[in-house]
Amino acid sequence: MELGELPRRPFRRAVVTGGAGFLGSHLCERLLDRGTAVLCLDSFVTGTRANVEGFRADPRFRLLECDVTDALPVHGPVDLVLHFASPASPADYLRLPIETLRAGSLGTMHALDLARAHGARFVLASTSEVYGDPLEHPQRETYWGNVNPVGPRGVYDEAKRFAEALTTAYRTRHGTDTAIVRIFNSYGPRMRPGDGRAIPTFIRQALRGDPLTVTGDGRQTRTACHVADTVAGVLALADSRCAGPVNIGGTRETTILDLALRIRELAGSRSPVRLVAAPVDDPRTRRPDTSRARETLGWTPEVPLTRGLRETIAWFRDRLGDGTVPEGASPVGA
Ligand SMILES: NC(=O)c1ccc[n+]([C@@H]2O[C@H](COP(=O)([O-])OP(=O)(O)OC[C@H]3O[C@@H](n4cnc5c(N)ncnc54)[C@H](O)[C@@H]3O)[C@@H](O)[C@H]2O)c1
Repeated sequence: MELGELPRRPFRRAVVTGGAGFLGSHLCERLLDRGTAVLCLDSFVTGTRANVEGFRADPRFRLLECDVTDALPVHGPVDLVLHFASPASPADYLRLPIETLRAGSLGTMHALDLARAHGARFVLASTSEVYGDPLEHPQRETYWGNVNPVGPRGVYDEAKRFAEALTTAYRTRHGTDTAIVRIFNSYGPRMRPGDGRAIPTFIRQALRGDPLTVTGDGRQTRTACHVADTVAGVLALADSRCAGPVNIGGTRETTILDLALRIRELAGSRSPVRLVAAPVDDPRTRRPDTSRARETLGWTPEVPLTRGLRETIAWFRDRLGDGTVPEGASPVGA
């Protein structure tokens, strides 16, 4: 066995940027469960302290408020850097276009510099949005994408494409131990009900009896992946020697209209469906080819959509209206 193929030692201390967000907080929690100490860096631009409340008291967990586009104030050893800080929902990045470009460029550079200085493993949270409105279906990692750089979504898509190029350059130029994960629509507890993404929007509307605002004709497709599966995929990549990019996402494609109807049924709601204008450059189709994740990492998603949605609806039902979950922005699409 080559040295590069030897299994890694368990990570002792991880830095998670954006660790108070939806995915970041689940990653922090899972890392703590596995025995890794965690330093969470977050500016709270879209994340909340409530997301980390459940493990805040763990002595191996530290939360530091900072903007990673300024600097990463990290002291002590680090052997894993997970760079997840970035506005992620369309409503957030349309509201924060420059901040999003800064997170993908300056934020990624600072996170890479930290990993390089410590000889740490680095994982970039990239996205299916690098494929834009894809002309290849399903999307394999070899597909270069169809992105409009000057459209409204360009601030997010191009920030992530730049971040991927920068990550690759640190690997080839500096030998930094990098990996890129392209995450497809993930869902689960700790999403904000008003963050504008399709699943939390439909759940909030269904639970309140408001009309379900389905964008376009509702026939555009997405694949939903439960956050437990997403986190397992990200950590499998971190544990591996693989540089990626690797797609991590659900494998069952559903139309947005079917998703809305399924959520309405599971929530026991009688909300009507209302078709509203589709956002500019909204992708028509979206489904990952996950062969690379399966073959290289032994990863496949396990949580069935109905079970995952039921659990997520229950989580929202417990919190909506009691003030513990911020409403966030208005719905703009998946
Ligand atoms: N959730 C998904 O389905 C999905 C899909 C593809 C990619 N991603 C990527 O995963 C990451 C996390 O997404 P999420 O869904 O958890 O979003 P989120 O908005 O819940 O989390 C992002 C976190 O980053 C923090 N943040 C943003 N800019 C920052 C900055 N400059 N400095 C410090 N902290 C900052 C926010 O406060 C928030 O806590 C993002 O990079 C996103 O692009 C997510």
